[in-house]
Amino acid sequence: MIEKFVKKKLIRLANSSNVLKLWYMYHYIFHDKKLGNLGLDFTNKKSRLEIIQNIIDKKNYKTYLEIGCFDDELFNHINCERKVGVDPVSGGTIRETSDQFFKKNGENFDCIFIDGLHEYGQVKKDIFNSLNFLNNNGIILLHDCMPDSYYAQATPRCQWEWNGDVWKAIVECRNNKDLDVYTCYADYGIGVIFKRPNRNLLDYPKKNYSKLKFNEYFYNHKKLMNIIEYEELMKII
Ligand SMILES: C[S@@+](CC[C@H](N)C(=O)[O-])C[C@H]1O[C@@H](n2cnc3c(N)ncnc32)[C@H](O)[C@@H]1O
Repeated sequence: MIEKFVKKKLIRLANSSNVLKLWYMYHYIFHDKKLGNLGLDFTNKKSRLEIIQNIIDKKNYKTYLEIGCFDDELFNHINCERKVGVDPVSGGTIRETSDQFFKKNGENFDCIFIDGLHEYGQVKKDIFNSLNFLNNNGIILLHDCMPDSYYAQATPRCQWEWNGDVWKAIVECRNNKDLDVYTCYADYGIGVIFKRPNRNLLDYPKKNYSKLKFNEYFYNHKKLMNIIEYEELMKII
């Protein structure tokens, strides 16, 4: 009880505007290469709700898991026979972190949407835990894979509008011959992972993908992320 209270306070503190400003100064001075924005534009693109629901309907999926639900803006609107939502703070159906959930879970899912803690290390764990509980012919989707600027992906977080460095986990999976990985150009970038042979293997070996630099993404994002439009995604599922 006390632990939960302290955790909530710490999360609130980490996201307070003064703490975000301090981290912004830190990034500005030590890491920003002043590349500016990529100029990504998500207006007129499909929403994550449309994409996920259309996939569920087309594939006749019966089971949906959402990691990170917040205020259920998405979770409440997904139409699927069985829905499980995991979030340590709010929303969904299970009040746990994704790690706690996967440790005890005994259920498989057709569609898993990863949208919890947007930091590379946690996202990677969420992906590999999800793969263990994915039905054959299932799909893993991830939110926030296409940051538009250095600050939108910098960790520690330094601004309210933030995607985190989810993109690094996608680049790592793109190098895995047993995973077929794409990024749909919609709603801040929807990562797509199939458990099947990689159809467009990336040859970008790194000892530690958490050390990828934003300028690598800035100049090579189309290739690194295997970016596709919604229409193409619906053809390959
Ligand atoms: C961006 S919000 C999710 C938004 C929601 N999926 C949607 O589409 O509207 C991220 C959520 O992840 C939750 N979260 C943070 N760390 C988590 C973890 N380790 N496991 C699961 N959820 C986590 C936060 O509490 C927050 O509610």
